[in-house]
Amino acid sequence: MSVIKENNNQRDKWASKLGFILAAAGSAVGLGNLWKFPYSVGNNGGGAFVMIYFIFLILIGFPLMLAAITLGRKTQLSAVGAYRSVKKNWAFVGGLGVLCGFFILAFYSTVGGWVIYYFAKSLMGGLSIQEPEVLGSIFTDFISSPKESILYQGVFLLLTLMIVLKGISGGIEKASKIMMPSLFVMIILISIRSVTLPGASEGLEFFLVPDFQKIDMSVVMNALGQVFFSLSIGMGVMVTYGSYLDRETNLLGPSMYIPMLDTAVAIIAGLATLPAVFALGFKASSGPGLMFVTLPAVFASMPFGKLFCFIFFMLVLFAALTSSISMLEVCVSYFVDEKGANRRSASIIIAAIIYVVGMPASLSMGPWSDLHILGSLNFFDFYDKLTSNILLTSGGLLLSIFVGWIWGADNAIAEIESDGVKFVLAPVWKLLIKFVVPPAVFIVLLNSISELIRAISG
Ligand code: PHE
Repeated sequence: MSVIKENNNQRDKWASKLGFILAAAGSAVGLGNLWKFPYSVGNNGGGAFVMIYFIFLILIGFPLMLAAITLGRKTQLSAVGAYRSVKKNWAFVGGLGVLCGFFILAFYSTVGGWVIYYFAKSLMGGLSIQEPEVLGSIFTDFISSPKESILYQGVFLLLTLMIVLKGISGGIEKASKIMMPSLFVMIILISIRSVTLPGASEGLEFFLVPDFQKIDMSVVMNALGQVFFSLSIGMGVMVTYGSYLDRETNLLGPSMYIPMLDTAVAIIAGLATLPAVFALGFKASSGPGLMFVTLPAVFASMPFGKLFCFIFFMLVLFAALTSSISMLEVCVSYFVDEKGANRRSASIIIAAIIYVVGMPASLSMGPWSDLHILGSLNFFDFYDKLTSNILLTSGGLLLSIFVGWIWGADNAIAEIESDGVKFVLAPVWKLLIKFVVPPAVFIVLLNSISELIRAISG
C-alpha cells in the first residue's frame, strides 16, 4: 500500500499485485471474521445461519466484489469520483459509503480496544485461566468499566490514525506478509485444539448442521449483513482499492480469492470458537463477548497456551487495524479528494470525531447498556444494525444497479476482458448482477428498514 500517497500529477499504482491483494484482503479479514462471525452464528441459530451466509456469499458476495474492483480500475478514482465519472448524480453512493465507514469505525474501535486490553493482559500472563466463570467476569468487569474501555478504544483509534497518517507505507505491507499467514496458521491450530476437546462434537453439530426451523427473517437479514461487513463491500473500499490497479492486472483472480480467503478465516474462527463453547460450558448465544471468554479457556488447555494467547491477540489486533485503516481511509480520502482538505488535519479531525461518536458504543457495554436509543437497541447495537443491515446493504444494492444497469454489465465485462483474459462466466455474472443481486438485496433491505421503523415506533 506504499503507493497510496498524495500525488497531484500522476495517479499512483500498487507497487505490486501482491500489495493490492494484501490491502484488500487486509481490509476484508478482520474482527468481522474472528469476532463477529462466531457470535453471529451463536445468536442466529448455528448451521442455518452458516448455510444462508454461503448462499448469499456465492450469489451476492462474489459478483459484487468483482463489480466493485472493476468499477475502481475502470475509473481510476476513489468511490465518490468513480460513481460521478460514470453518472453525475450517482456520486451520493460514494457519500453513503463515507458515512458508513464513519459509523462502523465508531463501534469497531470499541472492540479493537478490547483486543488491545486482552493483548496487554495476556502479555502479563493474566489470562491463563480455565474457569469459564472467572473468564466471564474478567470480560464483563473490563467492558463495563467506562474509563478503561474508552481509554483502550482511544488507543486503537490512535494506532489507526498513525498508520493512515504515515500513508500506510512500506512497514504495514511487509508486516502483512508475515502477520496474515501467521494468523491463518494460528487459528488452524486453535481450531484443532477446540474440536478435539472432550464434548466438542455438540458444538460442531451446532455449527455445521443446519436446523431449518431456525431460519427466520432476522437470520436472513443478519446473514446478508455479515456478508457485506466481512467482505468490506457496499461502502467503496473495494472500488477505491481497485482504482489503484493498472490495466494489466487480471481482476478475476483477486475477486475470487479474496472472498474465499475471507470465508476460510471466518469458518476456521467458528471452528476455533463454537466447539469449545459447548465443551467448556459457555453459552453460544453469549453475544459479543464470545471470542474473548472462550478462546483464553482454549489456550489454557493447550501446551504453551500463554505464549499462544498473546501471539494470537497480537495477530487479531493486526488484522483489526488493517480493516480499520480502510474505513478511516475512505472517510479521509473523501475530504481530501472532494473537499480539498489537508490530508493530515482531515485525518486527525475525523478520527477525533469518530472517537467522540464512538464513546457511547463503549459505554453501551457498561453504564449505558440500558440506554436504548432506538427500540431495544443501545448505541453499540444501533451502530452495528445501522451499518450492517441498512447502510452497507443499500450501498451493495446501489452498486449492483449501477454496474448492472447504469454503467452497464457489458461495459464492465469489456473492462474485465481488456487485459486479454477470457471471462468464461460472464453470462452468469451478468445475470446475477442485473437480475439476482438487486431484487434479493432489495427484499432483505426492505425488511431491515421495516424492522427499524418498528423499533422506532415500538
Ligand atoms: N471486513 C472488515 C472485517 O471483517 C470490516 C470492514 C467493513 C472493513 C467494511 C471495511 C469496510 O473486520
